Amino acid sequence: MNADAQKRAAAARAVEFVQSGMRLGLGTGSTAKYFVELVGERVRAGLDIVAVPTSEATHADAKRCGIPLTTLDETPELDLTVDGADEIAPDLNLIKGGGGALLREKIVAVASARMIVIADQSKWVGALGGFPLPIEVTPFGFAATRRAVEKAIAAIGRPGPLNLRQGKDGHAFVTDGGHWIIDAALGRIDDPEAMAHALAGIPGVMEHGLFVGLAQMAIIGGSDGIKIVERS
Ligand code: A5P
Repeated sequence: MNADAQKRAAAARAVEFVQSGMRLGLGTGSTAKYFVELVGERVRAGLDIVAVPTSEATHADAKRCGIPLTTLDETPELDLTVDGADEIAPDLNLIKGGGGALLREKIVAVASARMIVIADQSKWVGALGGFPLPIEVTPFGFAATRRAVEKAIAAIGRPGPLNLRQGKDGHAFVTDGGHWIIDAALGRIDDPEAMAHALAGIPGVMEHGLFVGLAQMAIIGGSDGIKIVERS
């Protein structure tokens, strides 16, 4: 199975956890897109759910698939969110935000009783940090916020290049919330909780891509089948 087939297989397994009556969070990215398409197929066959998308892109996909949509204002508590990830550690802590949707993804995950992360096997890592950590910042005062981020990560022993993410137009990539993203090449993150705490305290940082303690289950598509890991 190639990576796409692994993503689709993981998404198909996750759909088995969806039941009629559920309020679902729909993730963002190429793996979550398979999940959205498969949920759409089941909705057309009679599945009765409502869903909150985590990005404008997922909103468009879900609408196209005929999935009934709601918002966190109408439906502030969800039963299950299924989303992809850029890295998944054995304790099910995650790095997310490669697609730039981390802020809405985290709001939706926190509003959900349960989060299942789906991925191909390349996302399964021994420790987080090989993938640059996305940090969503407000454009106002960008240089000052970047300096504060630099100091915070240096203070916990992880200096590393901080790159402002570029969009296809050569300008700064802009998130659905109108923010920018710093991609922080940190290397191995020994204490994700401490890193998360340090970043969360910086004014101007809207959110960061460390999802600590949020996923209860990972469904990983591999070349020899599906692996399911549950948080102990
Ligand atoms: C979106 O912001 C991300 O958090 C994605 O969930 C993550 O980048 C995984 O994307 P793929 O499923 O496309 O690899």
